[in-house]
Amino acid sequence: MNVRSSGSQPIVIEQDVVLARQTARKLAQECGMRLVDLTKMVTAVSELARNTMVYGGGGDMDWQIVEDGMRTGLRITFRDEGPGIPDLKLAMTDGWTSGGGLGLGLTGAKRLVEDFELDTAPGAGTRITITRWT
Ligand SMILES: Nc1ncnc2c1ncn2[C@@H]1O[C@H](COP(=O)(O)OP(=O)(O)O)[C@@H](O)[C@H]1O
Ligand SMILES: [Mg+2]
Repeated sequence: MNVRSSGSQPIVIEQDVVLARQTARKLAQECGMRLVDLTKMVTAVSELARNTMVYGGGGDMDWQIVEDGMRTGLRITFRDEGPGIPDLKLAMTDGWTSGGGLGLGLTGAKRLVEDFELDTAPGAGTRITITRWT
């Protein structure tokens, strides 16, 4: 797999979540992603960026445009050094929230992308990588 371009931006305040969405939209367009797929990716980014800010206490979004044979993909990692997710099975249940949300962010994001990898440990932060291919 070949990395065509990459970058990183912080996700600390509300405005960073807006910027994360804008970056994802721009990159998806650069990848030539169809509008319906772009919308899915941007929605997933929005949910994960918000979680990074709210639950992770802030963190970073790292992105890569990757090439794998004939396919081009947009791969985005959200990482924080917050409290981590103690019960992943619970957190990955539709409607479960620890903070008065709708509890559909993680499960929704997973459904909206083609690859979803989540690494977390109590006290060791959270890292989620999502990818959509064109
Ligand atoms: N980056 C994170 N760090 C710690 N906990 C998280 C993180 N992201 C999600 N969680 C936990 O997973 C739960 C479910 O997240 P989500 O599905 O986005 O729902 P909501 O944001 O509505 O609570 C959150 O309530 C929170 O407890
Ligand atoms: Mg959420």
